[in-house]
Amino acid sequence: MEHSPAGIDEETTRIYEGWRNKYAREKERCSGYDEHYAGAPGRRCSSWLDTWMVGKALKGLAREALVLDSPCGGGRVSRGLRRYGLRPIVADYSPWMVKESLPGTAGGVRLDAMRLPFRDRAFRASVCFRFLHSVPPAMRLAAIRELGRVSVVVVLNYLNAVSMRNLRRFWFGGKQLTKRVTEPQAIAEVEAAGLKVTRCVYKLRFFFEDFVVVAQKPEGAS
Ligand SMILES: C[S@@+](CC[C@H](N)C(=O)[O-])C[C@H]1O[C@@H](n2cnc3c(N)ncnc32)[C@H](O)[C@@H]1O
Repeated sequence: MEHSPAGIDEETTRIYEGWRNKYAREKERCSGYDEHYAGAPGRRCSSWLDTWMVGKALKGLAREALVLDSPCGGGRVSRGLRRYGLRPIVADYSPWMVKESLPGTAGGVRLDAMRLPFRDRAFRASVCFRFLHSVPPAMRLAAIRELGRVSVVVVLNYLNAVSMRNLRRFWFGGKQLTKRVTEPQAIAEVEAAGLKVTRCVYKLRFFFEDFVVVAQKPEGAS
């Protein structure tokens, strides 16, 4: 096992690595990955709102600013960044995902989100979408710290525990309730990683689960 930071038991690490390796090993899982989001009108709308949130969170960034999209998956967030005039660098543990999302971007890198191969503040911003809720807490902290190190502004996507979708899961059953968090829990986690939260942006509060926390390193922090 590559990651077993203090506080993460082997079983949790094994489950996480199984999830991660599916994307890394199975090319067919990655090719056309975003077709899922481009399918039914509801999903298309939901995915469009994801990138709307990111655009809102990064409003004011200079055109052509370099933004790291990690992990990029099939590239839907990067395509949104380009619509806002930004230049994405796509990054993922899966080489197939990097290949999938590369067209039209400023470059792509295969990497581990917990150990980014970039110098401090290499990017004006970074975006981390649909990732943290699948990762054990200590690893999440490592990933958030790294994003804060390599970029000025960080946009982190969380799934809200207080949403219609999650409540439906709670009442009628469903999976992975514990991976949803409240806004104060998300803020506490980002601050525990040494970043200062500037605001949260919601897709549609209480209706959809997704929201983003916008954060940056405090002035003078090394
Ligand atoms: C559910 S997809 C989300 C992709 C994209 N951000 C989106 O919102 O569509 C999760 C991605 O995380 C990647 N991943 C998992 N573990 C990773 C790690 N340690 N470092 C970098 N990428 C990782 C997977 O390969 C996969 O592409």
